[in-house]
Amino acid sequence: MSPDTVPAAGFDRELGLDELLRSVDRARLADALVALLGTGLRLSDVRGRELLARGEVHGGVRLPVRGEMEPIGYLECDATEAQAAAAVVLLQWILRANARYLMASELHLQAVHEDYAELQRRHAALQESEARYRELALHLEQRVAEQVQTIEATQRRLYQSEKLASVGQLAAGVAHEINNPIGFIASNLNTAQGYLQRLGHWAEQLPAAPDLAAVQQAWAAADLGFVLQDFSDLIDESRSGAARVARIVADLKGFSRVDQGGEEAADINAIIRQVCNVAEGQIRGRLAPVFVLGEVPPLRCNAAQLGQVILNLLLNAADAVTPPGVVTFETAVAQGQLRLRVHDNGGGIPPTVLPRIFDPFFTTKEVGRGTGLGLTVSNDIVRAHGGRIEVDSRPGAGTTFTVWLPLR
Ligand SMILES: Nc1ncnc2c1ncn2[C@@H]1O[C@H](COP(=O)(O)OP(=O)(O)O)[C@@H](O)[C@H]1O
Ligand SMILES: [Mg+2]
Repeated sequence: MSPDTVPAAGFDRELGLDELLRSVDRARLADALVALLGTGLRLSDVRGRELLARGEVHGGVRLPVRGEMEPIGYLECDATEAQAAAAVVLLQWILRANARYLMASELHLQAVHEDYAELQRRHAALQESEARYRELALHLEQRVAEQVQTIEATQRRLYQSEKLASVGQLAAGVAHEINNPIGFIASNLNTAQGYLQRLGHWAEQLPAAPDLAAVQQAWAAADLGFVLQDFSDLIDESRSGAARVARIVADLKGFSRVDQGGEEAADINAIIRQVCNVAEGQIRGRLAPVFVLGEVPPLRCNAAQLGQVILNLLLNAADAVTPPGVVTFETAVAQGQLRLRVHDNGGGIPPTVLPRIFDPFFTTKEVGRGTGLGLTVSNDIVRAHGGRIEVDSRPGAGTTFTVWLPLR
């Protein structure tokens, strides 16, 4: 510890007399000391620097002014020793009080400074992390936008593919339907060829036959009576098979234009029958269609698209019923509009599911079986025709879809 400082107990700073007097009104202190001592006085620090002086001092008393222990200065005056000692005690009290005040205020200032520095540090750190977050947010926003785009594109593709998927399903059913008659027509033609050979063989024998009885005997031996009868049956069966193929192909034509605009005046009853014909292979054994088709005027529409709506409703009904189920198609004019009702006696739709069935990708079917787009596409098609689809369903009571189409 240097000799001119006061140890500041508990603090790491020591204060000199000069410093201690800095915040003291020295003139008033001097006045007070003069009044107390009744003589002039001189107050100096340990180095002899004069800090306070009043009047003349003729080398009377010189007493140390102490800090805690060591002298930090000297008081000189011409008063008595007792007076001077009393003045020193007072002076020390004042200085000590002042020292405490200075320490406290310094500590306070230091704390404030530290707080401020800490605050600045935190502020800088906050700014930095805010900038980082902003950058991150921007990056995230971009990523999200990209993802949304990808999802939208995928959804659009799926939406398109749902349109194609039901057509594809249809094609599979149709191939099966056509394959069957073609198969038996081919087999019939084979049999017919055999029959022709048997007839030809019999005819070759005619010129050499001695009499009519021999001809008849050869006829009976080759069982040509049966051959003729069966030949005729084969041809009947083949003709009806060919007619069935022709009908399916004709019905199918309606579906080949699904994605082409083209409005025409169409007979909705005919469209319903066509769809059921074409889809017969897919619903056979599961669902039997019943037709309650009223007298309805021709409807200006895209027949291929409406066919798709009907197909979607039909296939949903087939999925909903416990075989053998029934789906009833009912058409009528009601409230100036064309009303098509498709009612099935399936399991119905639970109330929790009902509000969601038109949502894109909503399906209760297992993965790979349902796309959840059938009703979305159907709803879009009907809306594009200025109409709407309603649904009424209760679990156990089956489901009725009602399609309203304005007659324009
Ligand atoms: N006739 C119906 N009976 C019961 N539920 C149905 C019927 N039609 C539609 N649904 C319900 O609506 C859902 C959505 O149908 P849809 O959009 O055609 O998609 P998907 O048939 O691919 O599931 C179905 O998964 C099913 O839960
Ligand atoms: Mg469906």
